[in-house]
Amino acid sequence: MTKAPLAAYPALRLRRLRQADWVRRLVRETVLTPADLIWSMVVHEGEGTIPVASMPGISRLSVKDCAAAAKEAKALGIPAIAVFPHIDGAKKDAAGTLALDPDGVVARAVKAMKDAAPEVGIMCDVALDPFTTHGHDGIIEGGKVVNDATIEQLVAQGLMQARAGCDILAPSDMMDGRCGALRRALEAEGLQDVMIMSYAAKYASAFYGPYREAIGSGKLGTGGVENPADKKTYQMDPANHAEALREVALDIAEGADMVMVKPGLPYLDIVRQVVDAFSLPTFAFQVSGEYAMLMAAAQNGWLDEDRAILESLGAFKRAGAAGIISYFAPRAARMLGA
Ligand code: PBG
Repeated sequence: MTKAPLAAYPALRLRRLRQADWVRRLVRETVLTPADLIWSMVVHEGEGTIPVASMPGISRLSVKDCAAAAKEAKALGIPAIAVFPHIDGAKKDAAGTLALDPDGVVARAVKAMKDAAPEVGIMCDVALDPFTTHGHDGIIEGGKVVNDATIEQLVAQGLMQARAGCDILAPSDMMDGRCGALRRALEAEGLQDVMIMSYAAKYASAFYGPYREAIGSGKLGTGGVENPADKKTYQMDPANHAEALREVALDIAEGADMVMVKPGLPYLDIVRQVVDAFSLPTFAFQVSGEYAMLMAAAQNGWLDEDRAILESLGAFKRAGAAGIISYFAPRAARMLGA
């Protein structure tokens, strides 16, 4: 060993704790496990699987496949599944009437998954966009998404999902007062054990693009009624952070059990702020556009797919998230050696 003059030695050598795998594992501050994952899954009304072009590796699953996937989730140690419906365009209307259908694809998928694997939690989106011709999350009157009339429809949708056996209602619509209305309705109906995970800080983001293809969502600004070409009057401005804390505080006061920040990686600062400000389980949604970006780069050979998947999911844990909703869930769980 060469010796440097005494004054040149670093006072502290942080590299000492990085020199071997065993010590890196020993001092690791956060750990990602399959128990941190909620599997984001798309169900469709037909048979077989239909690949989603903008999300390589992701397909719309039949109800039967969803039931099989629920068993797989159990085997992989994934605690919960979030299910999103693809609806045939011909069945949609401006009010999203089909969102309330107790025999619809959401209800059937929930029942099939709970029958196949009762130990796996099932979460449903409460929002109208998969069911509306115009693709907005609510009801439109006079060219605007109206708050209170939308809430009535959302409550009916949420109750239908809860009666079908859904464990967690996840209102993703961003109407004011939806959590309180849902909570009151659940209590009144004797469904007090149903949990609410609110999309509390949900931003009007460009990163939801591939999801629109996945669920076959109507093109905003069209669909037979005059309507806005974006969701900026209800989803949050990406420039804001203090407002996110106000949204979370409101949803907690209204009876949300857990909250979510969405999208994920570009909003890790919001995850951290929410975790530091409130003592309740805070989740992040690694959305369709994040999935697509990572896969596109990996398919070009520009980054190591497996490492990038686990690093991105681990980043949410470091930011303080209780868990992550992700399309990578089964793949990640397999890599984590469940
Ligand atoms: C619907 C909803 C969206 C997503 C989840 N629920 C789209 C939107 O709000 O426009 C996005 C999911 C994803 O991009 O993976 N309210």
